[in-house]
Amino acid sequence: MSGKKNEELIFQESLSECVDSFGIGSQEGVKASLTECQKIFDCVSIVHQQQISEAFQLDEKIIKTMIKFMPSIKESVVEYEVVCCSGARCAKKGSIEVLKAVKDTLDIDFDETTEDGRIRLTTQNCFKKCNLGPNIMVNSRFYHKMNKVKSKELMKNIKDI
Ligand code: FES
Repeated sequence: MSGKKNEELIFQESLSECVDSFGIGSQEGVKASLTECQKIFDCVSIVHQQQISEAFQLDEKIIKTMIKFMPSIKESVVEYEVVCCSGARCAKKGSIEVLKAVKDTLDIDFDETTEDGRIRLTTQNCFKKCNLGPNIMVNSRFYHKMNKVKSKELMKNIKDI
């Protein structure tokens, strides 16, 4: 198992522990999760902010505001966070090709960042939007019903901006 995957697992475990001990909706719990995330990854990416927001069932804006009041927490420094769905239902609809096209176009693997540090590529098991898959998320915005051509185009646009 790669270091990054391990870090993800450690974070997911600590997140559910925080939810269990502080309870849904707890801002103290969010603070603890943000601190853990910072410790593990040296920053809190957009994806991790979303996961914290989902886990505590709090709006993402609340998480963002809390980060502003926690000087020790750094938001992700990358410009674009690309997250591809690696779930089984998207796979049935052709996401394997999409994942390959994204990796090839960005010229990086999953859990890697482009050489210029602008784009980070990760996967998520399911976005719970399977009927609209294959799905890609770029900085919290969803792109649905992706195929090889559309995903290549999208990645090219991000690269060339
Ligand atoms: S499997 Fe892709 S959104 Fe559910």
